[in-house]
Amino acid sequence: MGGLTRVPGLLFGGDYNPEQWPDEVWQEDVRLMAEAGVNLVTVAVFSWSRLEPAPGAYAFDWLDRVLDLLHAHGIAVDLATATATPPPWLVRSHPEVQPVDATGTRLEFGSRQGYCPSSPVFRAATVRLARAMAERYREHPALAMWHISNEYADHTAECFCEESARDFRRWLRHRHGTLAGLNSAWGTSCWGQHYTDWEQIEPPRKAPGPVNPTQLLDWRRFSSDALLACFEAEREVLKEVTPDVPVTTNFMSVLRDLDYWKWAAAEDLVSDDAYPDPADPRSPVKAALSYDLMRSLKRGPWLLLESAPSAVSWRPVNVPKDPGVMRLHSLQALAHGSDGVMFFQWRQARYGPEKFHSAMLPHGGTRTRQWRETVALGADVRRLAEIAGSTTEAEVALLLDWDSWWGLEAPESMPSDRLRLHELLLAWYAPLHARGIAVDLAPPDRDLSSYRLVIAPNLYLCTAERAAALAAFPGQLVVGPFSGVVDADDQVHDGGAPGPLRGLLGVRVEECRPIPDGGSQEVVTADGTRLLARTWSEWLSVDGEDGEDGDGEDAGSAQDVEVLARYSGGPLDGRPAATRRGTATYLSFLPEDPAPLLDGMLAAAGITGVTGQGLPEGVEACRRGPYLFLLNHGDAPATVPLPALAAPRADTPPTDLLTGRTLPAGPVTIAPRDAVVLKS
Ligand code: GAL
Repeated sequence: MGGLTRVPGLLFGGDYNPEQWPDEVWQEDVRLMAEAGVNLVTVAVFSWSRLEPAPGAYAFDWLDRVLDLLHAHGIAVDLATATATPPPWLVRSHPEVQPVDATGTRLEFGSRQGYCPSSPVFRAATVRLARAMAERYREHPALAMWHISNEYADHTAECFCEESARDFRRWLRHRHGTLAGLNSAWGTSCWGQHYTDWEQIEPPRKAPGPVNPTQLLDWRRFSSDALLACFEAEREVLKEVTPDVPVTTNFMSVLRDLDYWKWAAAEDLVSDDAYPDPADPRSPVKAALSYDLMRSLKRGPWLLLESAPSAVSWRPVNVPKDPGVMRLHSLQALAHGSDGVMFFQWRQARYGPEKFHSAMLPHGGTRTRQWRETVALGADVRRLAEIAGSTTEAEVALLLDWDSWWGLEAPESMPSDRLRLHELLLAWYAPLHARGIAVDLAPPDRDLSSYRLVIAPNLYLCTAERAAALAAFPGQLVVGPFSGVVDADDQVHDGGAPGPLRGLLGVRVEECRPIPDGGSQEVVTADGTRLLARTWSEWLSVDGEDGEDGDGEDAGSAQDVEVLARYSGGPLDGRPAATRRGTATYLSFLPEDPAPLLDGMLAAAGITGVTGQGLPEGVEACRRGPYLFLLNHGDAPATVPLPALAAPRADTPPTDLLTGRTLPAGPVTIAPRDAVVLKS
């Protein structure tokens, strides 16, 4: 029995929009859902205007019938609170509910998810509907979980209206206390921005030039919190009326807009919508990273709540998934800790912007490849039921900090706008993934003591407290470039980077030297390995070199800071590029391929991949509790050495849970776009 909901085993199903279909189709829906093994559907995500056609006048009868019908066929419901799209009557009677963009334009009705997160009218209306839904369905046996709103920050991540301005000012008062505090934190002495009244402060609307970056940073924090307040207001009513029903909202993978560490703490279960692009060869690794983030948010199983059976409809070119790819991508999510596979959507729409988006049951009905693959996947998911609830132990953590992300990507004010946090994470994640090494994501203030290797691809914003926590970490630590640059208010630390990390790392960054697009800088390691730096390099000083002694008791000295690599050629020739002090490594550049450095770090931390050896290209190896997933994303058969872990006893050859087949001794060969799941 999985722990996420009271539905046993793994969850399988998708978004179901019965209001788009006549009743007779519902009968066919439940019959076919049963055929495919669907045990959970998400209902009512965009149903507000159909459930509350006039203020306070509810029309629940159709939803009652849907829930009864689903329950009668053994299908549980992830019930949305239906608050994702405010109905026309609300936006016409209260136009201020619609969001305003950075240019001051109020956006029109006619799409979805258009609302001002700070609007008291909107929040009150959502809470009223959430209460009505909870009271109506509190005893309904189909109710397995609550789904609040939909993909917060999708379409509307921020609103620049007057009401948002008022809310922003309240948030700022709470953060900074006094106007003097705000002026100091925002550095308003620069460019003549000194405020003398709170009312003078506005959201960072479109301005003639670059906007104050601290104002922007606070705005991003505020906007994440304003949406979270919407979520929390609904959650509070649901918890009051149905305290035992788990609550979620569907996340959007690796998303800059929302601080998911904070958000996940407010949910009972983490769920994610993942739409890897079948046309992007990096999709498997990007998906793996986002799934590992989801698993890390609550350090346990999560739920893939939406994915595409085949093509989406919102990219410029929407490439379908080749035969076998839906299954492979679904198995990948299970491998990385999802306790189910859910899709958008059950039945392909006949109208609306998503009529060409794929579905479990396509326009062509049941005589289609898509349908056959849907049914086959349902059977695979049932075969893997026992994995529900199992967890992954990672020895490596990548640090992810939303404050740093927001600060690093401030427009028009950085040494280079080519440092993108998602890419920096991927640069480290990809080689770890290729080696079959399990990776957690972690916030910098989490207890990191269970890891052997912690990599901070970037910690642009680093406070003294965070630096102290990192200094206390006993394992191998790697800090990437442009870290420890600013404090919590985006103000540069005295003496420059790495600021409070200086004592730990024993280095000083004298100068940032971004590399132009297409350019590179050579770096040579102590053992003569040549690496290429792209995008970024730094003029780095090691305390003790250049006749420097360091300037404090916690500064390093030439004796204890080892130079692991030096720049070669150009103005940086011979200068340190990578250093180590004790167990802390600093990289002042972005290696095009971090593998040669990574291998040394893994060896120092005593970490080997799942198979203990390398993996063929395109093969992913992922351990989840006693289960080992081997996934072949490639176009050719791949042969993988079978790890000892998967075959604990010579007399019991491992069995593939997907086929029930006992594997012969020796390496396993996996067909293209196929997988095996072994239990040890
Ligand atoms: C998601 C959204 C769904 C559906 C899907 C299509 O962003 O939550 O409602 O629109 O995309 O890919």
